[in-house]
Amino acid sequence: MQILLENSSVAGIDQFDVYRQHGGYASVEKMLTMAPNDIVEAVKKSGLRGRGGAGFSTGMKWSFLDQKSGKPKYLVCNADEGEPGTFKDRYFMERLPHRLIEGLIVSSYALGVNTAYIYVRGELSWIITQLEDAIAEAKSHGFLGSKILGSEFSLEIYVHPGAGAYICGEESALLESLEGKRGYPRIKPPFPAIAGLYGCPTVVNNVETLAAVPWIVMHGGEAYAAIGIGKSTGTKLISACGNIRKPGVYEIALGLPVEEFIYSDSYCGGLLEGRTLKALIAGGSSVPILPAHLATTTAAGEPRLMTYESLFEGGFESGTMLGSGGFIVLDDKACIVRNTWNFARFYHHESCGQCSPCREGTGWLEKVLERIEHGHGRTEDIDLLVEIAKKIEGKTICAFGDAAAWPIASAIRHFRDEFIEHVSLAKDHV
Ligand SMILES: Cc1cc2nc3c(=O)[nH]c(=O)nc-3n(C[C@H](O)[C@H](O)[C@H](O)COP(=O)(O)O)c2cc1C
Ligand code: SF4
Repeated sequence: MQILLENSSVAGIDQFDVYRQHGGYASVEKMLTMAPNDIVEAVKKSGLRGRGGAGFSTGMKWSFLDQKSGKPKYLVCNADEGEPGTFKDRYFMERLPHRLIEGLIVSSYALGVNTAYIYVRGELSWIITQLEDAIAEAKSHGFLGSKILGSEFSLEIYVHPGAGAYICGEESALLESLEGKRGYPRIKPPFPAIAGLYGCPTVVNNVETLAAVPWIVMHGGEAYAAIGIGKSTGTKLISACGNIRKPGVYEIALGLPVEEFIYSDSYCGGLLEGRTLKALIAGGSSVPILPAHLATTTAAGEPRLMTYESLFEGGFESGTMLGSGGFIVLDDKACIVRNTWNFARFYHHESCGQCSPCREGTGWLEKVLERIEHGHGRTEDIDLLVEIAKKIEGKTICAFGDAAAWPIASAIRHFRDEFIEHVSLAKDHV
């Protein structure tokens, strides 16, 4: 099922004329026949959930936006995408920049916003150019700027390059950065819906979330809700990587069995010949790792599905999360300790340093993992890692702390033997 990537392989689809010939910007024409609140209602009905990682209801988030403050309101598109293993937004923007612009126009109309920003990872310089070109084209054809298609609705979209800090993907750090300040997450409440950019009501949404809105406007919330299973409606972009035959970005209808996604030739194409599945990180580096037997089947023996609910089945003991859709497959040759150390290095490097459990804890985790991986570990180090992770989780200003702790706690929960083996090998060499 292709809702987002439909037409993505058409030559020249990143150009206005080709995009328009394939039905592009039709939702902007349709929106002008609708009341803004009808679009909010359609998005609510669709069951669309934020694709940036947390999976919060988009319609609900939109209805929290303070419409009575009298201040300007802003829509900010989060295109920072720094999560290791996640590369769906850049893939999407490279191919379909106009679809994102269209999503921003209809979403801004729904929210009563006249100024929107795309905060995009600065390294993606060619995408920044593509987005700016798409904005200029949409403007020259009357779909953007003052009095869109002769209506009373006006919108300006600005592209803002970030400087490549992972923490600037966290929405409040992103807003600080957009204001020209250091990317420090804010203490919440207040939430952006009340006091966001420049202290004004703001909605922050992921690229993929906003890109789904034109389809919902054209086909209705019910049609979107009919795709998927339960509270996991619609389609999801999954960036698949690791030890698989066909890495890439796939659009799936939510509810696809994990097993099918890994082994079917339509998706990952299975593992390399002779290799077996060892572990799965289903939603980017921040989510708990699962061993092979829990990756495709829940602890209750049910097939594991690509939905928010099924992946979390078993909670933190035996489940994980869909997160940002960064799907990392590890085969029997992969070293879990090395992989965990690698993530710990990343989180230590990227901590903004505002809160001590995260600032100090991530450094400590990295140090202990480094010595285990390099043959200097002690038996007590394994429980020490668990203790440090516990002292970070839930005790920080933003969810980065949890993101740093979960991969380590889950790696030890499911692969303790491998950590013990590293430590005992180290002793053998003394
Ligand atoms: C450390 C950290 C990094 C994040 N990075 C991103 C990111 O790169 N892109 C993104 O859309 N959301 C990211 N998020 C989630 C955002 O804070 C926010 O929830 C999201 O942009 C909201 O959009 P959505 O409701 O459409 O998902 C991050 C969160 C944390 C805690
Ligand atoms: S949890 Fe880490 S990244 Fe988030 S505010 Fe605290 S120190 Fe910064």
